[in-house]
Amino acid sequence: MNLTRRPRRLRASEAIRRMVRENRIQVDDLIYPMFVMPGKNQKVEVPSMPGVFQYSLDEFVADLKEVVALGIPAILLFGLPESKDSQGSGAYHEHGIIQEAVRLAKKSYPDLYVITDVCLCEYTDHGHCGIVQDGLILNDPTLDLLSRTAVSHALAGADMVAPSDMMDGRVAAIRAALDQAGFEHIPIMAYSAKFASGFYGPFRDAAGSTPQFGDRRTYQMDPPNGNEAMLETALDMEEGADLVIVKPALSYGDIIYRTKERFGVPVAAYNVSGEYAMVKAAALQGWIDEQRVVMEALVGMKRAGADLIITYHALDVARWLK
Ligand code: PBG
Repeated sequence: MNLTRRPRRLRASEAIRRMVRENRIQVDDLIYPMFVMPGKNQKVEVPSMPGVFQYSLDEFVADLKEVVALGIPAILLFGLPESKDSQGSGAYHEHGIIQEAVRLAKKSYPDLYVITDVCLCEYTDHGHCGIVQDGLILNDPTLDLLSRTAVSHALAGADMVAPSDMMDGRVAAIRAALDQAGFEHIPIMAYSAKFASGFYGPFRDAAGSTPQFGDRRTYQMDPPNGNEAMLETALDMEEGADLVIVKPALSYGDIIYRTKERFGVPVAAYNVSGEYAMVKAAALQGWIDEQRVVMEALVGMKRAGADLIITYHALDVARWLK
């Protein structure tokens, strides 16, 4: 036996494994999604997402202390409004829940990077991401409301906006509205490759955004389609997206890879609610080693080409990295 190539030589100890490791998760990669709601002294755990909470603003700002202390650079905000209507007016109200949360977060922690999800589904009484007429989700009338939402977030002090609605042309509309309002310096992180996924189930409990009729398949992408994801991303880039999101992450590694290869822009992988819930549920049963599985899943996203990872595991990951 005379083997010249023996890959095991470079696996022999932790020291050499560290030295030749190709990808690693850093705290700088993490974006932590948080849910804010009206009220006081409320920190309600989402049943399908153990360790994730819906916060009233006082509790939200209290917990931001730890986010900042752990060195997590950014949060992504979702809001549960006081009331909902057909136009989703809570999304773009000057004193809406997100606008207030952004003001508070930026006042308390000016260096924390605050990203806002721009969508209507948490604010509409029908739970869809756009204006509804005769059971159809209208594209173009929705663009104006999304633009107003993005501008209202920027006025409150948001550092970046992230449109997740999947209407055609929304990045162009939002870019134009931001520029016109003097926010040409605010970047757009577009949910470009966003699939109509069963993995969003727990999020809809957390955000109270389950559609009251039908589903989101007329605007979110069909899971089997990879080329279509490239088209969506190309359009968003042309329209002015600065960063792009692939969502969900775990079943869409090919999309992360192709997006990074083809466009070379910063790519964020969204490790969504259902992916989080599955890991948590199995860990609570003692069926998997949570830390090991989470780190393996996240580094897989980086290996596929992700630069940033939006994950509900962010606090745990930041603690493990310490
Ligand atoms: C809003 C939005 C959703 C998610 C992010 N923004 C829900 C949806 O599209 O139904 C999902 C996030 C997650 O599952 O963690 N449109």
